[in-house]
Amino acid sequence: MKYFRSDPARTQLGLAYGPSALAYLDAHPDALDYIEIPFEQLRHTPDAGALQAHMPLVLHCASVSVAGTVAPSADTMRAIADAAERLQTPWVGEHLAFVSAEPLGGETEADRDPTTLTYTVCPQLSEASVSRVVENVAAARRQLGDTPLLLENSPQYFEIPGSTMPMSDFIAAVFARCDAGLLLDLTHFLITCLNTGADPERELDRLPLSRVVEVHISGLSVQSGIAWDDHAVPAPPQVFELLRRVLRDVRPQALTVEYNWSAAFPQPILHRHLLRVRELLEAA
Ligand SMILES: [Fe+2]
Repeated sequence: MKYFRSDPARTQLGLAYGPSALAYLDAHPDALDYIEIPFEQLRHTPDAGALQAHMPLVLHCASVSVAGTVAPSADTMRAIADAAERLQTPWVGEHLAFVSAEPLGGETEADRDPTTLTYTVCPQLSEASVSRVVENVAAARRQLGDTPLLLENSPQYFEIPGSTMPMSDFIAAVFARCDAGLLLDLTHFLITCLNTGADPERELDRLPLSRVVEVHISGLSVQSGIAWDDHAVPAPPQVFELLRRVLRDVRPQALTVEYNWSAAFPQPILHRHLLRVRELLEAA
């Protein structure tokens, strides 16, 4: 089995699990340091973990719902902790978002179960949300044992009702009070700036960059005037510029390129973008 090893002098470079990542791995067996695999994938198809015979796996997760009011089940938290131990993942990366909501409250038994949104949703950006995240992260940390937790910034698509602060202040407030590292998704960050009219340079200065452990890069697409997260298209040039800027301040332990929503992401672009990222890491 292969296990992720941090190297203070060299950022580890990985791809998010998916058909294009597996195809790339076949063609370039020595070009990657790890594959980032979703807990939900491993839970659904445990055989996917067999990849660890050839490549270290880092656990990503969209089940803890740290910014929500509905806690994950004890079974789910136990399964995440078990997967983390089995993989010897350096951390569990989770979204600073919610994926479960209150039951619909109808007549049937299913209506009395929490509503699973199947998509990580950006929370209200307020002090109340910060306090909720602080409590939920503390509970998750107790259940995960020694495995560190990273929180990934959400993309913001619209002004969230009841919000009292911009995303950068929300993130800073959460990290001031939470025992967690920052998984900085530069595309989510850019999407948030584009959709809220914020200046990326100024917002970056307000983020707790010293807490960055891992960076994500993916694509975005603009529909009806709104920028959306899109892992099926290449990252735009601004994302690489943001990476160059972030690397002036911080040396992340890992950088994951997430081109995992397409079964046939163009391999030449994937290869070129990995080379570009490596180049930026080496120049920093
Ligand atoms: Fe991400």
